[in-house]
Amino acid sequence: MAGLAGQRGVVTGGCGPLGARIVERLSAAGARVIAVDLPGAVRAAGSGGAAPGVDFIDCDLLQPGGCDDVVQRVCGDGQRVDFLVNNAAFTGTAGMAGYVCPFEEQTDEAFDRAVELNLAVPFRLVRRFTPYLRGGRAPAIVNVSSIYGLVAHDPGLYVGTAMATPAGYAASKGGLVQLTRYLASELAPVIRVNCVAPGGIQREQPSQFIERYATRVPLGRMAREEEVADAVYWLLSPAASYITGHTLPVDGGWTTR
Ligand SMILES: NC(=O)c1ccc[n+]([C@@H]2O[C@H](COP(=O)([O-])OP(=O)(O)OC[C@H]3O[C@@H](n4cnc5c(N)ncnc54)[C@H](O)[C@@H]3O)[C@@H](O)[C@H]2O)c1
Repeated sequence: MAGLAGQRGVVTGGCGPLGARIVERLSAAGARVIAVDLPGAVRAAGSGGAAPGVDFIDCDLLQPGGCDDVVQRVCGDGQRVDFLVNNAAFTGTAGMAGYVCPFEEQTDEAFDRAVELNLAVPFRLVRRFTPYLRGGRAPAIVNVSSIYGLVAHDPGLYVGTAMATPAGYAASKGGLVQLTRYLASELAPVIRVNCVAPGGIQREQPSQFIERYATRVPLGRMAREEEVADAVYWLLSPAASYITGHTLPVDGGWTTR
């Protein structure tokens, strides 16, 4: 299916585990995709041989001027941009001190940095890309939130593991859901803005965690990256042309309970 043929757009965190699948999915749909990520992540992705139709921009989005730099490098030569996927975030594997740890050990600094990358950077990028997106073809934005932006985490899920859901993660992902509604209203009728809220994606988590998770989700298993990438693709595609301001859980039914 080439539902994005001729379109061009940006995926932040596009070299990460989920971001790379989103880049692949959009590229397979015919889009020219620009993956924005930290220099080390771009180097690692490039060394594997870049897929045709994919370009890379190395940028730390938290550096002063980082968001301006990305917009300049994407649109500076007058090139069109049609979509933006805000996927980069500090997640449970970020390795940031004072973040993935018991609540009373979580630091103000880690909370602030999570809110900055997970919520303020999407705002900064959307604000800067808006004049260019307005001239795009069926322009659309997808923000990547989480089930923990919709419902509270269950601390019992993590017992016996080193895993945790940081307050800064939950608060920033909840903010992203509301920012999506705000932007959808503000940028209509030209730019559609939607959000996906993935459930936990199965990777190398401890087996006790994976098993416990499976018992708590109606579809009985964790998510796969491709399932989230398909939802991002669909929200950007013409099939979702009358959908804006929506947050789509991709969670096996987690948020039904
Ligand atoms: N993994 C899950 O189970 C899960 C569940 C729900 C939602 N999500 C969301 O999906 C998205 C991707 O998740 P993931 O597990 O692939 O995340 P990840 O932490 O593995 O990857 C995030 C990517 O963002 C990049 N990044 C980090 N800081 C950056 C910066 N300052 N500038 C530019 N890029 C930066 C990283 O290099 C990495 O490539 C996140 O928004 C996450 O919150 C993930």
